[in-house]
Amino acid sequence: MRYRTLGRTGFSVSDIAHGLWGMGSWSDSDDRQSAEALQSATDLGCNFFDSAWAYGDGRSDRLLGAHLKKNAGKQLFAASKVPPLNRRWPARSSYKYADVFPKTHVLATADSICEALQQPVIDLLQFHVWDDSWANEPEFRETVELLKSSGRVRAFGISLNRWEPANGIAAIRTGLVDTVQVIYNIFDQAPEDELFPACREHNVGVIARVPLDEGSLGGKLTPQTTFPAGDWRANYFNPANLHATLSRVERVKSSLPEGMTLPEMALRFILSNLVVSTAIIGMRKQEHVRANIAASDAGPIKAALLAELKHHRWDRVPDAKTA
Ligand SMILES: NC(=O)c1ccc[n+]([C@@H]2O[C@H](COP(=O)([O-])OP(=O)(O)OC[C@H]3O[C@@H](n4cnc5c(N)ncnc54)[C@H](OP(=O)(O)O)[C@@H]3O)[C@@H](O)[C@H]2O)c1
Repeated sequence: MRYRTLGRTGFSVSDIAHGLWGMGSWSDSDDRQSAEALQSATDLGCNFFDSAWAYGDGRSDRLLGAHLKKNAGKQLFAASKVPPLNRRWPARSSYKYADVFPKTHVLATADSICEALQQPVIDLLQFHVWDDSWANEPEFRETVELLKSSGRVRAFGISLNRWEPANGIAAIRTGLVDTVQVIYNIFDQAPEDELFPACREHNVGVIARVPLDEGSLGGKLTPQTTFPAGDWRANYFNPANLHATLSRVERVKSSLPEGMTLPEMALRFILSNLVVSTAIIGMRKQEHVRANIAASDAGPIKAALLAELKHHRWDRVPDAKTA
């Protein structure tokens, strides 16, 4: 496992890290399987875990808390997120800041997360949605400063809306944001345009999320794949998007060098960008943990392959289902 510095937090984090969304909120999650996946990842050197209160109303935070307790003495970093009070994803500029992240809501949720994590302080607390129209709200500044001065958090970050990577740059410029979490993968390359230069300039840590495009770049989805009603993936991989995605996945596969798997290429594409501090992957199966962590050891891909993969960029606009 290789490690990178998470921007100005100074945390030395594994470049392949664990995302816990599926463990908290997806229909086929099993706590025992999840705990085993977290342990395997940790045993193989993964030290950064991304959770959120919204992933099962504290379920993934509690799973992570139990994991941290079991591994007390190891340097592991726990990240979680405060959900918007209005429970609306994604954020919109028409929402008033005071209806989304009022101070009382943020502090109370931070306390609930601390309790679930069984930690006196949260390494990284993120806002789960963001809109840059809020960047200069006095209550935003006051809240972030209070989160830190009260000892609740070590670092603060924002998680950017799907396919809106530039909608966070004003927040970065306030100096209040230590990390951003953004969708970045072979398809979603737009963060390279404006967001990554801003992160580099302000030494903001970059957490690349959805590295496998919710699983399509794992290569196991087929035109027949369905998800149970109520599972978010049933919306995201609706027949139209599944069809469009799978034909692009087929094209990506044509770039695969001999001996390299699709998920390996997808992860090593991300790791080839040195502005990325870590890629958080949803992985509940042991075989996925092992394969993904091996991608860290293999490191960046060759320049020629990287150049070829740039052609698979797919700029998308969220609709009601994929947002
Ligand atoms: N708004 C936000 O802040 C936000 C939104 C989305 C995601 N996130 C964060 O980002 C993390 C990652 O995103 P994600 O989990 O949604 O999507 P992802 O990492 O792109 O894909 C996860 C899917 O890929 C599968 N997979 C993992 N490794 C694989 C491999 N080697 N081969 C084939 N399939 C593989 C997983 O299967 P198994 O799980 O069955 O192993 C799972 O179905 C989340 O867990 C969460 O922490 C944050």
